[in-house]
Amino acid sequence: MATLIIKDLHAEVEGKEILKGVNLTVNEGETIALLGPNGHGKSTLLNVIMGHPKYKVTQGSVTYDGVDILSKTTDERAKMGLFLAMQNPSEVPGVINSDFLRAAVNARNEKPISTYNFYKLLDKATKDVKMPFDLATRSLNEGFSGGEKKRNEILQMVMLNPHIAMLDEIDSGLDVDAIQIVADVIKQEQEKGMGFFVISHYARLYDLIHPSRAIVMINGKVVIDGDPSTIKRIDQEGYEFIKTELGIEIAKEEANMNTVSIGTCAVKEIIK
Ligand SMILES: Nc1ncnc2c1ncn2[C@@H]1O[C@H](COP(=O)(O)OP(=O)(O)OP(=O)(O)O)[C@@H](O)[C@H]1O
Ligand SMILES: [Mg+2]
Repeated sequence: MATLIIKDLHAEVEGKEILKGVNLTVNEGETIALLGPNGHGKSTLLNVIMGHPKYKVTQGSVTYDGVDILSKTTDERAKMGLFLAMQNPSEVPGVINSDFLRAAVNARNEKPISTYNFYKLLDKATKDVKMPFDLATRSLNEGFSGGEKKRNEILQMVMLNPHIAMLDEIDSGLDVDAIQIVADVIKQEQEKGMGFFVISHYARLYDLIHPSRAIVMINGKVVIDGDPSTIKRIDQEGYEFIKTELGIEIAKEEANMNTVSIGTCAVKEIIK
């Protein structure tokens, strides 16, 4: 069974170290919940696993199915069966969604998909995700609502059929019905053996997809790797218990001191 093994992973962005020694194993077929306060490295971890060029790995290793993936390109990682639904999907004017999907499917598979099979797959996937078909014919994410962008990420996941799908705050911006639809798609794929690595700040999605483990990241490290009851606890109490029970100080995001408040809802940079 293909396993993702992360050892002592350090990574930086713009010269700032964000991941400070992450150790973690993700088995194919399991669903892992990834939690942690804002700015503590969750998205960074998923982006590093997928090979986003903005992040520089400075130490440690990531292997998938025994292969060092840090030396692989992002599309090679996708071909191996890894997938990332991003927290903030980019708008790509001029690139038609269905053309992008077809290129991605072709990059993932050995042989190019026929037009007939592609539209059959797209038709089924849009129905699974309950997405209006016209979104597939528009420019990728351009003018999509927040919820439509997220649903389009799930459409990509269904079409690419990865071994491990990493979903970064897929529930943010989704209405209650859409969360249920996304959870139903996840459950359908779980039954077929897909593994999930899911970031969310809320218990609602996790209640629907039943993770087998909960991981908590603080200050760029995994500080809890345990049973999913941690999710309920965080939902009810926040992260304070990590400080009081584990003795781990939670670094706050640095405040920008070069700002001055000009009212209750506006902040203006001081002009030097
Ligand atoms: N280009 C950049 N330049 C400087 N700092 C960056 C850059 N990109 C990310 N960071 C910083 O890296 C840190 C970790 O960010 P990351 O997106 O991994 O957090 P997160 O745990 O996913 O938070 P959230 O729950 O808010 O999504 C943050 O402090 C963020 O500001
Ligand atoms: Mg994030």
